[in-house]
Amino acid sequence: MRVIVLAALSCAAFLGACAQEPPPLAGAALIERGDYLVNSVVLCGDCHTPRLETMALDESRALQGGVLPPGPGMASIAPELAGIPAHYSEEQFIAFLQTGVRPDGSQPMPPMPPYRLNEEDARAVSAYIATLPKAVAP
Ligand code: HEC
Repeated sequence: MRVIVLAALSCAAFLGACAQEPPPLAGAALIERGDYLVNSVVLCGDCHTPRLETMALDESRALQGGVLPPGPGMASIAPELAGIPAHYSEEQFIAFLQTGVRPDGSQPMPPMPPYRLNEEDARAVSAYIATLPKAVAP
């Protein structure tokens, strides 16, 4: 108990020593975090990756654009994201992931969810998606 009180007191005395934030992720660590978010948490590929005849995701064409079952008020194409969509700058893509609003002020139709990622997660997702090869023109 005394130890806890002392620790709290020294925190108050040396502000910053306790409240220090970890440094922001960068480089390979940022991309790795984006890979984890995209492929294990948010699953953008469920919609944005094309499927094989078996309906399994075609991982060799990750995020190169998918076709979705039609539904009322629903978009049936999830466009290519790999390499970041051509009409987005990196900063615009990061802003989109934090707001759900496109650079032109519009919002994608459902089933695209309006994500509100925090800035670091948005940067990680963008950094990872930027590494994926775009579809080769047929
Ligand atoms: C449940 C299916 C689904 C998931 C999951 C999903 N999307 Fe989408 N997304 C769509 C659809 C469908 C559209 C097209 C909407 C339209 O045409 O208005 C879209 C549109 C977008 C757009 C707009 C593209 C443009 O041309 O302006 C971006 C960017 C995007 N998605 C990024 C992502 C990212 C990044 C993730 C994962 C973090 C993700 N999406 C997850 C279905 C999905």
